[in-house]
Amino acid sequence: MAKQFPEGFLWGGATAANQLEGGYLEGGKGLNLADVLPGGKGRLKLLSQTGFDFEIDKSKYTYPNHEGIDFYHRYKEDIALFAEMGFKVFRMSIAWSRIFPNGDELEPSEEGLAFYDRVFDELEKYGIEPLVTIAHYETPLHLIKEYGGWRNRKLVGFFERYVRTIFKRYQDKVKYWLTFNEINGATHMPLLGLGFSPESEETRLQDSFQGLHHQFVASAQAVKLGHEIIPDSQIGCMLIYAPVYSYDSNPDNVMHAKQEADVFNFLCGDVQVRGEYPYFAKRYFKNHNVELDIQEGDLETIKEGTVDFISFSYYMSRTDKKVKTPEELGEGNLVGGVKNPFLKSSDWGWEIDPVGLRVALNELYGRYQKPLMVVENGLGAYDKVEEDGSINDDYRIDYLREHIKQMGEAIEDGVDLRGYTSWGCIDLVSASSGEYSKRYGFIYVDKHDDGSGTLERKRKKSFFWYKDVIYSNGENL
Ligand code: BG6
Repeated sequence: MAKQFPEGFLWGGATAANQLEGGYLEGGKGLNLADVLPGGKGRLKLLSQTGFDFEIDKSKYTYPNHEGIDFYHRYKEDIALFAEMGFKVFRMSIAWSRIFPNGDELEPSEEGLAFYDRVFDELEKYGIEPLVTIAHYETPLHLIKEYGGWRNRKLVGFFERYVRTIFKRYQDKVKYWLTFNEINGATHMPLLGLGFSPESEETRLQDSFQGLHHQFVASAQAVKLGHEIIPDSQIGCMLIYAPVYSYDSNPDNVMHAKQEADVFNFLCGDVQVRGEYPYFAKRYFKNHNVELDIQEGDLETIKEGTVDFISFSYYMSRTDKKVKTPEELGEGNLVGGVKNPFLKSSDWGWEIDPVGLRVALNELYGRYQKPLMVVENGLGAYDKVEEDGSINDDYRIDYLREHIKQMGEAIEDGVDLRGYTSWGCIDLVSASSGEYSKRYGFIYVDKHDDGSGTLERKRKKSFFWYKDVIYSNGENL
């Protein structure tokens, strides 16, 4: 078989500060959204409901993000393990509230900045390129409580100060940046991305799109600033991408699926990549009573601050039907659809669809013709440690192998794919369910939902498999 992956392809793994660092009150860090999210399966419901109260109540809930997997103290050991697998790139986020504990200070925290210096230096030691998400579901809590999150235009200014600070500080250390994680998930779960809980279902869309508009301006400003401060930087957007399949060939269902894809998959990308709201936005906003406050200069900023590349998470496709009954619904990563009879599901009910990744890559490249990176993909599963200490996660290897094969196909289709960072390369706290038991890693972490565990790291079978994938540049699968 011909070589599919280009030389210099960026193989690696992905994480987010709030899901692995821990040390939630160390180094002068302020509280952020993730610090008030309870652990356990109930989290998803809390995330979607209205009126979340943002208080920590340890008598009722556990807060696994407070400890994470203690990367804050163990980053050297973890980075050494990534290096052993041959990582070319490591996706991580900076926790905004380590740099500006409240989010609205005038001066940054030196202790916070110094922590990420140490992490970047450690990566450099092994020749691993950092890929940094600037905002990954980590809005400082003070900005949420005092300002109402991203609904408030003031966050655009606070974000600019934060971004300018980290670009200046890390200009010689970080070349690849992503602005907002899964920006298009905002309307479904405004709490995660926009830092507010809708007051009611009636206000959800209006407030979410206003918050998104602020993020579009903030992201475009960041791109412009990044190019000024770090001339050879590459700054991307980050989408949650699930191709939308029509349930059947009923034209009403086909049209509905197309509209779902337009609004969910493409609206944010069109703004961030093409620099303008898409043609269908006007009618959609009108039909949903959304009236945006767009200030003078915003549309110019958005036009001038288009991204250099597109990154996205891919876990599953989504099957859509215009009229659906509750029994037909499946589970999903922020958004689910109706069950697809051709697909099997993970332990958490997420449908597994490797071909959907090839569809996604072709759809995104066909629309935008910009370089792509898959910055999240993986299988959340229960792992078992055998008596001899081994962890035989063949199911994870199968999942990743089939997805990587489809990336190879997409590259042969002509898609310009530059990198792949599988999600949760080391076990960490799940975002949607706050569980440790939903494991994605090549590296097992001895930590459990009841809080027990030594935090010891162990190489899983997939660790050795992925090492060979990277070593052979995707040929040995
Ligand atoms: C993405 C997020 O939605 O999916 C990650 O960017 C998250 O933060 C990942 O962890 C997997 O989801 P979960 O809920 O299984 O952790």
